[in-house]
Amino acid sequence: MPNTILVGAQWGDEGKGKIIDFLTDEADVVVRSQGGNNAGHTIVIGGEKYVLHLIPSGILRRSKTCVIGNGVVLDPVALVGEIDGLRARGVKVGKNLLISDCAHLVLPYHQALDGLRESLKGNRKIGTTKRGIGPAYADKVSRTGLRTGDLLRTGEFEAKLKDRIRENNAVLKSLGAPLLNAKKIVADTLKASETLLPFITNTVVFLHRALETKSRILFEGAQGTFLDIDHGTYPFVTSSNTTAGGACTGSGVPPHRIDTVMGVVKAYTTRVGEGPFTTEDDSLGDRFHAMGREFGATTGRARRCGWFDAVSTRYAAILNGIDQIAITNLDGLDGLESIKLCVAYRLDGKVLDFPPTDSADLAKCEPVYIEMPGWMKSTEKARRFADLPPKARAYVRKLAELTGAKLSIVSIGPARAQTIRL
Ligand code: GDP
Ligand code: IMO
Ligand code: MG
Repeated sequence: MPNTILVGAQWGDEGKGKIIDFLTDEADVVVRSQGGNNAGHTIVIGGEKYVLHLIPSGILRRSKTCVIGNGVVLDPVALVGEIDGLRARGVKVGKNLLISDCAHLVLPYHQALDGLRESLKGNRKIGTTKRGIGPAYADKVSRTGLRTGDLLRTGEFEAKLKDRIRENNAVLKSLGAPLLNAKKIVADTLKASETLLPFITNTVVFLHRALETKSRILFEGAQGTFLDIDHGTYPFVTSSNTTAGGACTGSGVPPHRIDTVMGVVKAYTTRVGEGPFTTEDDSLGDRFHAMGREFGATTGRARRCGWFDAVSTRYAAILNGIDQIAITNLDGLDGLESIKLCVAYRLDGKVLDFPPTDSADLAKCEPVYIEMPGWMKSTEKARRFADLPPKARAYVRKLAELTGAKLSIVSIGPARAQTIRL
């Protein structure tokens, strides 16, 4: 497998974790390069379900190295919880995990501010995961952040952390919020750091050596294209570059070492949190929720659901340079007689081929649908493309054609085996 960036081409939760786990079989190194534990990546192996938030989804395969790159924001206490949880289930987490010494830390004041700012926004809220992601990236850009590398110098770190807590407590006070307990935060962070220290290193040098020895590198995107801080439905986005370019800046791997970009899409669309969603259809959401599908892997919130939106996936393809597409959750459409597919938007009497960049304009867009006949048969047991009903094959081919990418993978269930490689 060539060096591959895997990105979500919708609003997150496309099934990236499942596809990464599948592709890791052919890779040597799996890298997370942005986001934090706002991500929730689900993998099902032999009936066992794992949800990963910070650790790359490659961790479940033996003899693979997983890297948390410099672009990730990392909650040390949450990461230790994740490591312990995996170890308790017999998953090896040791020399197979490396953490960049330049990754920024997410600390309790980031979470407090995230929650507080959301509640102050009232009905203009973003609907964040409240994991402190936005405030942590804001500190990074303001050059007031603390990094994993700082944990290596305990005395200095403690003094810096106390300073940051003091400053943030002043902000919290001015907003009428309860103050944070500095002693507890310092103690909890230093305790977590005892577990994390052996993993912390210069991952740029590691990745450079991996490239020199022709190791195959897989970049695991978190969130999705339309949650990108620059290109997403601002301000209803996350705080990192979720698009393909973020994989390079967030890992220190140069762009010319990337061979291919794979986009992951659901066979329909979902979104969690607020913001415009042109193809949203509550009846589709009701149907999925009644089937027990489409509840968030991180917050448990019911996801908003709608039809496949080829206008946005086409835009995702040009933004990310997507040349291959993986379509997941095709089985979700198994029982439908007819399936809608959005091929253009209509805004103020004009037909648009690409989404407008302004969220207020996007919210005014009307979807232009075509309809395709459903296949009314279970696809879950298909193992080869030819096993799929002809109408299901026609549907996924159409999604790939409208997006402008080669159809590479079709997923028809959460399990590893329910994956068709074309
Ligand atoms: P990620 O954040 O992109 O990794 O996606 P999530 O794990 O948050 O959400 C995807 C959900 O769909 C998870 O519950 C997966 O187990 C599930 N999933 C992935 N692919 C398929 C599929 O083809 N069919 C079904 N039924 N579930 C799938
Ligand atoms: P994965 O990697 C879906 C959404 C939140 C909210 C917005 C901002 O599992 O696909 P944040 O906490 O990041 O400041 O929230 O982004 N969001 C996600 N939605 N999947 C995710 O990750 C998400 N990570 C953040 O719901 O709308
Ligand atoms: Mg998810």
